[in-house]
Amino acid sequence: MTANAEARNQNPGSDAAYRVLNAADLEGARGMRAFALDVLNGLSETPKRLSSRWIYDEHGSELFSRICEIDEYYPTRCEAEILRNHAPDILKRAGTDALDIVDLGAGDGRKTNIVLDRALKQVKDVRYVPIDISESAMAGLVAATGQKFPALKFSGIVAEYFDGLHWLSSTDDRKNLVLFLGSNIGNFNKVQARVFLRQLWEALNHGDQVLIGFDLKKDIELLLAAYNDAQGVTAAFNKNLLKRINRELGGNFDMSAYRHYATYDVFTGAVESYIVSLKQQRVTIRDLQSSFDFDEWEPIHTEYSYKYLQKDIDALASGTGFKIIEQYYDNNGWFTDSLWQVEKQSV
Ligand code: TRP
Repeated sequence: MTANAEARNQNPGSDAAYRVLNAADLEGARGMRAFALDVLNGLSETPKRLSSRWIYDEHGSELFSRICEIDEYYPTRCEAEILRNHAPDILKRAGTDALDIVDLGAGDGRKTNIVLDRALKQVKDVRYVPIDISESAMAGLVAATGQKFPALKFSGIVAEYFDGLHWLSSTDDRKNLVLFLGSNIGNFNKVQARVFLRQLWEALNHGDQVLIGFDLKKDIELLLAAYNDAQGVTAAFNKNLLKRINRELGGNFDMSAYRHYATYDVFTGAVESYIVSLKQQRVTIRDLQSSFDFDEWEPIHTEYSYKYLQKDIDALASGTGFKIIEQYYDNNGWFTDSLWQVEKQSV
C-alpha cells in the first residue's frame, strides 16, 4: 500500500475506496442491532417468526428457572436425576488426572453443579471452563461457582463456543469433557445438529469426551403438557419476547391480545412453540420505524424442540466422528445423557 493510499484508508469518511472493519469497530454496533435486525427480519417474513434466543433477558431467564421447577416440565428433573446417579461413572470414564470440564450454555448452573461437586471428590486436577458469549452472564456464573466451590479451579472464556474451544485445545493438552446439557441440541433441526456436532468434533482433540442431553420421543400428551403448563409460566415465558420488544425497541404489543400455543409434529419430531394473535391488529415498533399487521389467529413461530429416538442419536454420533461410550437414562426413560468420545485418525 502506498503512503497515500494508507492515509486515505485511515479516513473512511473521505475518498477511501473501502474500509475493512476490525473487531473493535464492530464492538457495540453488534449487541442491540442484532436484536433489532432479527425482529425486523422475522416479523417481515411469512410466516412470521422470532427466535427463542431473545426470550432470555433477565426476566426471561428467571421465568425459565421457574419452568424448570414445574411438575409438567420433566426434562430438567430427569436430567438432574441422571447426573446425580451417573456423575461418578461419567467422571470415571473421562477420568484422567487432569480434566477440563467445559460447559456450553450453563444457564443457572444447577445441573453443572452436580457434576462439579462429584468431580472435586473424584478427579485429582479438575478445572471448570464455562464458555459463553455474554460477559455479564459469565461474570455471574463465575462469582456463583467460586462461592459454591471455593476449592475449584476455574477459568471462564467469553467467546463464541467454537472459538473458545479451538483456543482451549490449542493452548494446552489437558483432556476435555464438554457438557452440552438440557436438550439444547433439540433447538437445532436435524441438519443444524449435524453441523454443530461436526464443528464440535473439529474443535476437540482425539479422546476428548462430550456429554449431550437429548429429550426422547414419548407419549404425546406428556410432551404437550411440558410446553403448555397449567400455571401458564411457559406462556408468560414465550410472550416475554413481545414484552422485550416493547421495552427495548419501543414496541406497542398489547400483551392480552396474544396467546401462547405449543404443538407436536409427529413427522419432524419437534415440539413447536408459537405466539398467536387473537385479533386483527397492527403493531408499531418505534426503533424499527416499522409497523406489522396481524390477522386474527396469525402465528409467530418462536421455537422448535426436537425429540430423539435412540437410533437418531446413534446415527448422529457415527455421522459426525464420535463413538458412543455410554448412554444414561432417567428411571422413566424419558431423557438421556449420551457420552461420546472424539475419534480422530492420527496422521
Ligand atoms: N428450549 C427449551 C426446551 O426445548 C426451553 C423451552 C421450554 C421453551 N418451553 C419453551 C422455549 C417454550 C420456547 C417456548 O425445552
